[in-house]
Amino acid sequence: MTTCALAITVNGHPVSADVAPQTLLVDFVRDHLKLTGTHQGCDTAQCGACTVLVGGQAIKSCNRLALQCAGQSVTTIEGLAPSDTELHVMQEMFRKHHGLQCGFCTPGFVMRAVAMVGEDVPAQPAAVRRALAGNLCRCTGYEGIVLAIVEGLAILRGTPSTPAVGARA
Ligand code: FES
Ligand code: FES
Repeated sequence: MTTCALAITVNGHPVSADVAPQTLLVDFVRDHLKLTGTHQGCDTAQCGACTVLVGGQAIKSCNRLALQCAGQSVTTIEGLAPSDTELHVMQEMFRKHHGLQCGFCTPGFVMRAVAMVGEDVPAQPAAVRRALAGNLCRCTGYEGIVLAIVEGLAILRGTPSTPAVGARA
């Protein structure tokens, strides 16, 4: 089998590996690196369960070859928390607002939410719902997810929570 050398940074650590050219990023992080917090739902770029950050941008890792990310910095859900005993702010907000039930979609939603911090997504329910168009959840009805992201965006941007927090879109 033909393989290619891949050098990449994952969760702040340099990684080198030989991978088949057709290896998807989701398979690389799950099977090669054993970072199984990144989930595989549809494998057709629709559900968002496989969302990771590449260069700070949220991408669906089932829709990206590992080799396309050579030389770039990838962050998975395992790389978010500042320590083994602390959650990332966005994870804490999902806990606070009950933004998960079975949890299958949650890593993808959290990674998408973290990427929103650097995007022009207002910390308001309607805007957050629009920005979540590529992420699907079968359990929650989205209400807690949206509230978590609205408050998380406000905290991470250092802006006060708006009256929209706690309000329905
Ligand atoms: S598994 Fe990638 S979008 Fe569904
Ligand atoms: S919490 Fe179950 S799919 Fe979202």
